[in-house]
Amino acid sequence: MSSHAQGHEVSGRTDHSASSGASGRLRVAVLVSGGGTNLQALIDRAKQGTLEADIVCVGSDRASAYGLVRAQEAGIPTFVVSYEKYLKGPMDEPVEDTLVASVDTRQRILHDSDEDSRRDRLRRLIAAEREILAHLEAHGADLVCLAGFMRLLTPFFLGRFRRNDRPGVVNIHPALLPAFPGQHGYRDTYRYGCKWGGITIHFVDEGEDTGPVIAQAVYPIWDEDACEDVQQRGLHLEHVMYAQVINWIARDRVRLVPRPGGRPRVCIEDPSYREVVGSWVEAAFRPRPDVELRRT
Ligand code: GRF
Repeated sequence: MSSHAQGHEVSGRTDHSASSGASGRLRVAVLVSGGGTNLQALIDRAKQGTLEADIVCVGSDRASAYGLVRAQEAGIPTFVVSYEKYLKGPMDEPVEDTLVASVDTRQRILHDSDEDSRRDRLRRLIAAEREILAHLEAHGADLVCLAGFMRLLTPFFLGRFRRNDRPGVVNIHPALLPAFPGQHGYRDTYRYGCKWGGITIHFVDEGEDTGPVIAQAVYPIWDEDACEDVQQRGLHLEHVMYAQVINWIARDRVRLVPRPGGRPRVCIEDPSYREVVGSWVEAAFRPRPDVELRRT
């Protein structure tokens, strides 16, 4: 039985607390918009048996995303939700005004001061997200991993997709947040003249790249580096990190701990934590392998 079948609706959202299907393994959906080298790294680890989760589906907002090809070659079901259609076309499925208004009060991704146009865009995003949620439910996904998914998710999606009453969506970002949020983490790090670049894996919240930090690692940037060198070194680290973070989540070792006077801290209660972080430091200094940068 899939976790979808086991899950139950709690106040309008799907609760995945009885999650992870008959196998007991975490069921991961990966969302991509582009080349999908992170996805490939996860697929490779799944094949090697070192990913403690199953990739149950791969979704994209772009039919031409090469990540979809990688998934299909690995025999993983794929789906495409055309944001173009939702954002530019007629609205076929109505989205209730009250829902749009309540999502608008919580969201921190759309900053248009004109309420009508902001809510129109929000309504369209929610419609697209409903389609994604239907795919995720059909595949019984417990956790969503964003891997180069270039769309911002609204509080509607995030509220519907939670695990064990914890955030259910994770993102990998190519900078040491809160520095350099947005779409060009490597370029911004390089152009700023940083001596260190960083990678952040975080839960997704209602802002852009603002969610609780799960894991971070840094790598050196040398004087002779071009931006592409920086990206290659960082991607190598991304590929090492993402599977290990998913494994901690799969083992239920990731806790969001409230702290007085500050943001909640994500604590990794796994005996491997310090050793794994040490291995990231080593990986950052290892001569980088040829990381395939194909992005279509
Ligand atoms: C990665 O740099 C990731 O950190 C960012 O988007 C990029 C995706 O790369 N969110 P790929 O598609 O996995 O190669």
